[in-house]
Amino acid sequence: RTTRTKKDFLTLLDYSPNEIIDLLNLAKDLKKQGPSAPPLLKGKILGMIFEKSSTRTRVSFEAAMLKLGGHAIHLSTRDIQMGRGETVSDTAKVLSGYLDGLMIRTFHQSTVEELAHNSTIPVINGLTDDFHPCQALADLLTILEYKGSFKGKKVAYIGDGNNVAHSLLIASAKVGMDCTIITPNNYEPKEEIVSYAKEIAKQSGSTVEVTNDPVSGIKNSDVIYTDVWASMGQESEAEERMAHFEPYQVNQELVSHAKKDYIFMHCLPAHRGEEVTAEIIDGHHSVVFPEAENRLHAQKALLVHLMS
Ligand code: CP
Ligand code: NVA
Repeated sequence: RTTRTKKDFLTLLDYSPNEIIDLLNLAKDLKKQGPSAPPLLKGKILGMIFEKSSTRTRVSFEAAMLKLGGHAIHLSTRDIQMGRGETVSDTAKVLSGYLDGLMIRTFHQSTVEELAHNSTIPVINGLTDDFHPCQALADLLTILEYKGSFKGKKVAYIGDGNNVAHSLLIASAKVGMDCTIITPNNYEPKEEIVSYAKEIAKQSGSTVEVTNDPVSGIKNSDVIYTDVWASMGQESEAEERMAHFEPYQVNQELVSHAKKDYIFMHCLPAHRGEEVTAEIIDGHHSVVFPEAENRLHAQKALLVHLMS
């Protein structure tokens, strides 16, 4: 990948703390400017390949392109030849000739990397089994809006240690926010990612913790974050997972161990009564809808950074 000069957004590991802060500042500016923002992506076309369902990612990317004067094309793998076995690399080479950027939501991180490696246009990871960096960018923007800063703040993620947790962990370490990941036994984040995060946190002066204990993990947190117990592709494990995750529900009892002014976050879609009670997600500490809106603003900044 050393010979390529184009920029991609595959994981936040590839972005420096300064680059992330610049993206957040640009996102804040674009959000403030709203409809009066200049058409920074005039004439640009983004392709969006989806191998999994999506509401927020699809609509926020498409809206971001339209609002900045560009265009987006939705490509479901149910419709395109990639879904019938055309290779990722042939798809990348062909689409590079038509488009200015490509977003993909898929299963394996290696598919995103292969697409990026074979494209001459920027590639964006719109969620894999391992990462969800666009979500993490919007989450940082939201935390900044509600908490004012990252240093000295603590985010406690409780639930499955997979894509959203991994990206939140990396994002927190990059910006110097303390992060605790609380999971049932055997659902911890990948060790490799935890050790990357610890390395990064050392430089930013923050802490990374992984625990199986909800109460001690939630203590002193400014942000409580959760996600579904069975992710896309894990539908057949849903019942088994339910039993393991039940003690990890975000409910009134659990949040009583956080700071009084904690905020509740969730990438959505949510399952009320499973990972979070309705009382919490619909209560006054919840910022899940501003968080969802911030997908749009964060991605506007990302698209401008990559494509203009
Ligand atoms: N949070 C998120 O990525 O939502 P969608 O699956 O609806 O895109
Ligand atoms: N962990 C969830 C996130 C959805 C946005 C999933 O992968 O399905």
